[in-house]
Amino acid sequence: MPELNLILIGPPGAGKGTQADRLRHDFSLPYIATGDMLRANVKDGTSLGKAAKQHMDAGDLVPDDLIVEMAADRLRQDDARDGFILDGFPRTTAQAEALEEHLDEEGRRVTAALLLEVPDEEVVRRISGRRICTKAGHPFHVEFDPPKVEGICDEDGSPLIQRDDDKPEVVRNRLRVFHEQTFPLVEFYDDRGVLRRIDGTDSPAAVHDHIRALIATLKLEDGV
Ligand code: AP5
Repeated sequence: MPELNLILIGPPGAGKGTQADRLRHDFSLPYIATGDMLRANVKDGTSLGKAAKQHMDAGDLVPDDLIVEMAADRLRQDDARDGFILDGFPRTTAQAEALEEHLDEEGRRVTAALLLEVPDEEVVRRISGRRICTKAGHPFHVEFDPPKVEGICDEDGSPLIQRDDDKPEVVRNRLRVFHEQTFPLVEFYDDRGVLRRIDGTDSPAAVHDHIRALIATLKLEDGV
């Protein structure tokens, strides 16, 4: 059966992680988030984490060569051979070309690049209220998606904190970087006929329903 290879694209705070968390359960796909992988490397003090930290703290992108190698290693693992959800990768045209080359070599292709569209002012509202848990990074929002007990993760009981790069001045830089370096991927995937636009301003449940309906259509069209 053809595989489902999904990419989530969108500005910081668009809801990529929130939706990926739901989609991975719907379709039993491995969830590969380069931001989470980098944060784990920073926490563990690896050489990759040390090289990435200064870029992440400033809201800049980590250099392509480091990211491409990390993502390619992850995609070679057995669980990603029959499909995947990529969140936060690719983020530059060079990364998209490297991913295409990697998949081409294996006779694979991207099934859909899902663009979550959310205006900048909404991004700032969402990110300023985001809290993540210290154990696994589960995301909450103080207003839109609060935990049952304030300051504690519903899933694993660990304390909730604000991400270092969620401070207002860093968020402004992340948005600028998105528009300058990641937005060109919209044309890249549109040219390949796999771009799908999603209104990310709806509620998390409504966005999820929209994406599921879209994937159901893709399955009918492609026999995925
Ligand atoms: P990364 O971790 O990928 O961050 P990001 O892309 O900026 O995305 P976020 O995690 O901030 O947002 P999200 O879209 O997942 O939103 P979420 O679902 O949490 O990257 C971090 C850094 O790592 C980068 O800056 C860079 O330095 C580096 N990096 C990573 N990948 C790289 C790459 N490929 N190349 C180079 N560098 C790389 O939702 C946000 C909030 O809104 C939450 O509180 C949530 O509860 C709430 N929310 C979600 N959906 C809704 C909704 N529909 N309505 C209301 N609230 C909502």
